Amino acid sequence: MSAAEPPQSANSTPPGGSDAAKPRAWGEHTSAIFVTGTDTGIGKTWIAAALLRSLCAAGFRAVGMKPVAAGFAPGTSVNDDVSALCDAGNVDAPLDLRNPYPFAEPAAPHLVAAAAGVTIDIARIGDAYARLRARAGALVVEGAGGALVPIDRTHDMLDIAAALALPVLLVVGMRLGCLNHALLTALAVQRRGLVLAGWIANALPPRMALVERNVDTLTERLGLAPIAIVGPGEQPSFDATRLAMLGFAR
Ligand SMILES: Nc1ncnc2c1ncn2[C@@H]1O[C@H](COP(=O)(O)OP(=O)(O)OP(=O)(O)O)[C@@H](O)[C@H]1O
Ligand SMILES: [Mg+2]
Repeated sequence: MSAAEPPQSANSTPPGGSDAAKPRAWGEHTSAIFVTGTDTGIGKTWIAAALLRSLCAAGFRAVGMKPVAAGFAPGTSVNDDVSALCDAGNVDAPLDLRNPYPFAEPAAPHLVAAAAGVTIDIARIGDAYARLRARAGALVVEGAGGALVPIDRTHDMLDIAAALALPVLLVVGMRLGCLNHALLTALAVQRRGLVLAGWIANALPPRMALVERNVDTLTERLGLAPIAIVGPGEQPSFDATRLAMLGFAR
C-alpha cells in the first residue's frame, strides 16, 4: 500500500462531523463509514474487509453491514459480500442486521426487490444499523454497485448513506473510465451534502497503464490525495493515522 503523505481533506468538516478530531474515550463513541465505489466489481468488499481487519487489529469492536445485497453464493442463501464482511469483523450480530435486504437474484436492487414484492425501507435499514451500533465501536457499511444505484423508484444508495448520516469512502477501481466515474461520484456525494471522507485507488488486476498518472489526476481534481493506493493482490492494512483520517479514532 502506498500514498504515504497524509491526505488533505477536500471538506472543511472532518470525517464523521465536527467532533471527529476530538479524542474519544474507548467505548464512548461509535464511528462508521459508508463505502461506495466507481462501479460494481471494483473492490468495495476487498477494501471494506481490509478496513474491518485493520479496525479489529487496532482494538475496535468492528462490524460490517451490507444493507442491500443481490446475489447469493451458489447453494446458499447468503450473499458473498455479507459473508466476507462478517469474516473480517469481530462482532457477533444476526444476519438480518448485517444484511436486512438479501435478494437471491444478482441484478439491480430495485428490480430484484420489485420482482420479490419487497419495498426497500430505509427506516428499516436505519433500525438495523442502530442495533449494530449498539454492539460495535466501528461500523463499515458497504453499498451495492455505485453511488446512484436505485433501491426503488426514487431512492438510491446515497440516500442510505444520508439517512445513516455517514461520511463516504470512495473506492476507485483503477480501470479505464475511472476518472469520469470517480469525479461524477464525488459530485453526487457533494450534491447530497455528504462528506467525502476519503478515496482509495484500488489497482485491481489487470493493472491498468499509467496508474500513478491517473491517481495524480484524481488527486488534483478531487483536491484530495488517496488514503491508499492498493496494488493487485494486495490486502491493505490501515494504520492508526489512516483510520483516524476516516474518522476511526479512539
Ligand atoms: N486489489 C485487488 N487485488 C486483487 N483482487 C482484487 C483487488 N480488489 C478487488 N479484487 C477482486 O476483484 C473482484 C471484485 O472485488 P469486490 O468483490 O471487492 O468488488 P465490489 O465493488 O465489492 O463488487 P460488488 O459491486 O459486487 O459489491 C473480487 O474477485 C475481488 O477479490
Ligand atoms: Mg461488494
